[in-house]
Amino acid sequence: MSVFAPLRSLLPPEIRVRKGGTPLVALTAYTTPVARLVDPYCDIVLVGDSVGMVLHGMPTTLGVTMEMMILHGRAVVRGLSKAMAVIDMPFGSYEESSQRAYRNAARMMAETGASAVKLEGGVHMAETISFLVARGIPVMAHVGLTPQSINTLGGYKVVGRGGEADRVMADAKACEAAGAFSIVLEKVPVDLAAEITRTLMIPTIGIGAGVDCDGQVLVVDDMLGLFSDFQPKFVKRYAELGRLADEAIASYAAEVRTRTFPAAEHGFADKVKS
Ligand code: KIV
Repeated sequence: MSVFAPLRSLLPPEIRVRKGGTPLVALTAYTTPVARLVDPYCDIVLVGDSVGMVLHGMPTTLGVTMEMMILHGRAVVRGLSKAMAVIDMPFGSYEESSQRAYRNAARMMAETGASAVKLEGGVHMAETISFLVARGIPVMAHVGLTPQSINTLGGYKVVGRGGEADRVMADAKACEAAGAFSIVLEKVPVDLAAEITRTLMIPTIGIGAGVDCDGQVLVVDDMLGLFSDFQPKFVKRYAELGRLADEAIASYAAEVRTRTFPAAEHGFADKVKS
């Protein structure tokens, strides 16, 4: 069976022309069942390197590997029939040179069926973005808070306040000029995100960047309330699945301990009744 999504999935040029229209809807997914759940409602499904923290319990995204991204990317693409799959390039797979970025991006697209890659960085990644785009690899850029640079940024901070605003604007413009078809703005002050959105011809996808972006993305586990320990300010919880799961697991444990589960209807008789 092919790992590829049928070609009726949205493609980067169709996302690009949505600039300024009805906001683009994006969520992360890391597995086939979640991809199936989000596909009918999303324009873009991002196989984010947040998978390392969300599914693998890593403290940051820095330990995520090509193999992890490819495994999860394949699983997600299998679950999509309409939304476009974008896959994150993991830390260390693209920064060193355009050639290395090309080899890894081409492998990720060939082995997963994703329609585009996402990479973090602005001005300093522009050369690589244009190298990839010229060779058939659509690129979604990611500026503002770039979690793979957590150690140089010094935390998950808002990026673009005060004197930093010009740098974030320059990063966004450089990505557009290099040929990115859209750009994620993460934890950028709302006024700056609005200005970048007005300035660029490509769609901006905000996460913690206000309502004026051309689209929004969230980590699906965050918006479903699957975790209770950490809640970024920019996340709105649309459900409390973590609490529901806790209640369900507690009921199961109590029923096993009191021999209430399994009940007669969950068992099998010696003979099949005729
Ligand atoms: O890895 C990720 O989930 C992201 C975000 C933009 C949601 O990059």
